[in-house]
Formats: sequence, C-alpha cells, structure tokens
Amino acid sequence: MREESFWLTSTPATAYPALTGDVTADVIVIGGGIAGLSTAWELTEAGRRVALVEAGRIAAGVTGHTTAKLSVLHTLIYDRVRRSSGPEAARQYATSQQQAVERVAEVAARLAVDCELERVPSFTYAESPGSLGPVRAEAEAAAEAGLPASFVTGTGLPFPVAGAVRVENQAQFHPRKYLLALAADLTRRGGQIFEHTRATGLVDGDPCRVTTEGGHTLTAANVVIATHYPIFDRGLLFARLEPRRELVVAAPIPAALDPGGVYITPDQNTRSVRTAPYADGQRLLIVTGEHFTPGAADVTVRWQRLIDWTHERYPGAEVAYRWATQDNSTTDQVPFIGPFHAGTRRVFVAAGFGGWGMSSGVLSGQLLSALLTGIAPPWASLYDPRRLHLLREAGPLLKLQAKTAAHLVGDRLRPSPVESVDDLTPGSGAVVRVRGRQCAAYRDRAGELHAVSARCTHLGCIVSFNDAETTWDCPCHGSRFATDGTVIHGPAVRPLQREEI
Ligand SMILES: Cc1cc2nc3c(=O)[nH]c(=O)nc-3n(C[C@H](O)[C@H](O)[C@H](O)COP(=O)(O)OP(=O)(O)OC[C@H]3O[C@@H](n4cnc5c(N)ncnc54)[C@H](O)[C@@H]3O)c2cc1C
Ligand code: FES
Repeated sequence: MREESFWLTSTPATAYPALTGDVTADVIVIGGGIAGLSTAWELTEAGRRVALVEAGRIAAGVTGHTTAKLSVLHTLIYDRVRRSSGPEAARQYATSQQQAVERVAEVAARLAVDCELERVPSFTYAESPGSLGPVRAEAEAAAEAGLPASFVTGTGLPFPVAGAVRVENQAQFHPRKYLLALAADLTRRGGQIFEHTRATGLVDGDPCRVTTEGGHTLTAANVVIATHYPIFDRGLLFARLEPRRELVVAAPIPAALDPGGVYITPDQNTRSVRTAPYADGQRLLIVTGEHFTPGAADVTVRWQRLIDWTHERYPGAEVAYRWATQDNSTTDQVPFIGPFHAGTRRVFVAAGFGGWGMSSGVLSGQLLSALLTGIAPPWASLYDPRRLHLLREAGPLLKLQAKTAAHLVGDRLRPSPVESVDDLTPGSGAVVRVRGRQCAAYRDRAGELHAVSARCTHLGCIVSFNDAETTWDCPCHGSRFATDGTVIHGPAVRPLQREEI
C-alpha cells in the first residue's frame, strides 16, 4: 500500500521558482490550492497582474489530497441553509455552486485540459430507515433551491440503502490535472507563481505589503489569503472555524462495479465514495471517512475501520493507496469568501469549505475576482466573512470555544502516557514534561530522540502525536508539524521550537 495521494502520484511535480527578490503586482494571492489558483487565474483573466506565493508546492496541500467530487450537493446543506437563512439563501447557494461546477467544465474545455472530468449524479444516502428524515428534507430543499434533485431508493452502490437525495448533472475530476493547467496558463499570461515561499507578515495598507520567510517583500493594492486555515487572522475567524481531519483509501475495482455517481452518507462517521479512471478494465475506488479533530489518538485504528468497510462493501478490493487530509467548517456551514474583516477594503479571504472546497474553491475565484473588479454578484453577502448571525451561530460558536478552551487548559494538565523519554519505543512519540516544560518527544525507528516544544506556535495549545502519520497535530485549530518542528499545515507559520533533552 502506498501511503500517498493518488492525485500526486499520477501527475508530475511542479517546479516554480522561490521568490528571490521584491515584487510588485496588482494582487498578491497567498496559497496555491484550488482557492488560491482559481482566484489567481480568474484575476489574470480579468486583466490583473497577479503574484501567488505558496509555502510548499502548488496543488499539493489539502487540494492534492482531496477526493475531488465536483458537486453542489454538500451532504445535507440546503435544508440547513433554508431553515437558518431562508429559501432565497438556499437558492443563491445552489446557483453559485452550480455555476462553479460549470466553470470547471468551461475552463477545461477552453484550455483543452484532459482533467478526467466526468458528469455523474451526486447522492447523499442513508442506509437505515431511522436516518431517512434529514435525507427526505434535503431532497425537498434542494429541489426548492432550483436543483434537479429528487428522493430515490435505488442507487449504483453494491448494497441497499433506505433512501437518497439524487442531484443530476454533477461531476468528478482529477484536481491536479485541472489546476496544473490553470497554473501554466496564468504564468503564460504574465502571472507569477513562487513556490517554497512562505508568507510570514502582512501590512494592510495603501499599498499592502506581504513579507516572506526568505526576507522578501511583495507589494500590491490587494491581498487574497487562500491558505486553507486563514493566517494573519485579524478578523478572528479562527473562533468560527472548526478543523476536521479525514482519512482516504483507494483500491482498484473492476470497471463493472463502478457505482456511476458520487456518494456520501453522514452515517457511520461519514462514508464517501467515488471512482476515477485507472488501468484498463479497472476504476480506482476512492473511499473517505472516519473524521476526527486533529490531534485525536488512534488514527491507525480509524484507518483500519475504513479499510474494513471498503473490503466488506467491495469484497476482493485491495487497498493500493491511503492518505489523509483536513478541512475546516464555519459555524453556519457556509464558507467565508470576501473581505477579511470589517476594518479592511484591501484584504480578502477564502476559507471554511467544510469538505466541499472543489466547487467552493472555484467559486472563491469567481466571487473574489468579481469583488476585486467591482462587480458583486447577488450571493456576495451569503458568503461574506463579516456576517455574524449570533442567534443562529451561538450554539456551535459556544461549543467550539468550549472545546478549544478545554484543550488550551486541559491538555497542559493531562498526565503523559510515559514516565520519561526513556520509555518511548522506536517509532513512538508523546508529550513529556522535562524540567517543567512540555516537550513533544519522538523516538525514530533507528532509536534517535527528537524533541521540540509541545506548545503550538499559533496560539499555544499543546500538540498531540499522530501515530499513523508521525506528526504533531494541534487540536485547537488544526496546525500540524513534522517531528523536527517544521510547519506542515497552518494556521501556524512558525516551527515548533527545538528542545534539548
Ligand atoms: C478527506 C477529504 C476529502 C475531500 N473531498 C472533497 C470532495 O470530494 N469534493 C469537494 O468539493 N471537496 C472535498 N474536500 C474539501 C477540499 O479538498 C478542500 O476544501 C479544498 O481542497 C481546500 O482548498 P484550499 O485551496 O482552501 O486549501 P489548500 O489546497 O490546502 O491550499 C492552501 C495552500 O496554502 C499554502 N499555505 C499555507 N500557509 C501559507 C503561507 N503562510 N504562505 C504561503 N502559502 C501558504 C499551503 O501550503 C497550501 O498549498 C475534501 C476534504 C477532505 C479533508
Ligand atoms: S492551531 Fe491554534 S493553537 Fe494550535
């Protein structure tokens, strides 16, 4: 089994240069995932000079580890939006998301990109009759929102379901094949992409200035923060964003078993199914699920549960790849796309896609490009990050804050599973108190000890060891670090401090 994303292994690595001097542009985009690349491309299309900086390689963050269903059916969203914000908001959500799906098809055709775009129906299903209520309500709300949606009892899955919402004319694609073509097109038209260039500072002024880890400065009238979890978060969006990590396995199956659609159920801690083109006579079955707060223990056990489910539902399927990634949900389940906070006219953000950033990432590009060029579509206020519906969001907001506070305080007091670093076996890690300080200590397979501070450099929560991925993960806002302290995933921008033990 390869412990890497199929999307990354089936496309060439990119090699855009790192920033080696100061740069001036019309717009600086920070982050080269689907949101950042779509925004940079749409702005280039609108005639703006764009410079994009990416801390690692483009389309290799969450976007490189997604499952890439391109669908407007976001599990159970329409009934929720209808109840919380009214039928017009649900209609705007449906229209804007469908336009994003169509945008991918249109751009892929225009650039002649073979991104394996396949038109398929999208399903949210329930296996047990007890879970049918929300599915029926979703079918009705999605149809009322103007989508070609219906309630069905038959699907292409190889096991019976009690019922499902079915929405026609959705899609699945290869996200990197699409985005690498977008990147090539935007640089061909004068846009600039700098990889291995981490943004570490922002001055929101006239003009704006972004500074990088390498000590260089980018200057522009506008900045778009598309770093997945927002950095430079003066709007305190972190208080309204909940990170959720999820596991993915992929197994070749005979093409005859292709379920002919994209599927998801919120039951059983979420199960999501799609397939992708693979070898002759085969499709690659991609199954996602087992979500958890980053930093939770027993990731290995969760992975085994997902593999067991895949074997049970598709007997004979041998898992060939496994990988993991995470996404953030907002407290009202609608993404944050628009001005970063009430005090800015120049800095914009795209975040909080709640597991549906393929369509919402493309939508971010369309919406931010429209806002920056002075035309606001009717749904701009639906996605505006400055919205705060206290009455509607109070419950989830308080729950999220209580959870974060419990980690911030409780994790400092939690006893270590080992008495001292001497008890760490090869390949294991734990937070250990050394001379009164909490150290994140890991013993590698060769027996060597690596120790860094366990205090997350974002807001100081205590990181936990992820046994399946050999990383230190922060439960508060989802930052992740390598065992030498290097940042793998934000919002942290600084590494964990090295500790001498
Ligand atoms: C398991 C799983 C399956 C999913 N499947 C689907 C699906 O089927 N359909 C769907 O619609 N959505 C899906 N999603 C959601 C979707 O993948 C994400 O919402 C989307 O990829 C997020 O894109 P992004 O551009 O915001 O983030 P990313 O792709 O992570 O891009 C952000 C980039 O910013 C860079 N960055 C961070 N900090 C800095 C910095 N300081 N300076 C410079 N660069 C920086 C990062 O390196 C990264 O490359 C799934 C999510 C998960 C967890
Ligand atoms: S990610 Fe916010 S404190 Fe760690």
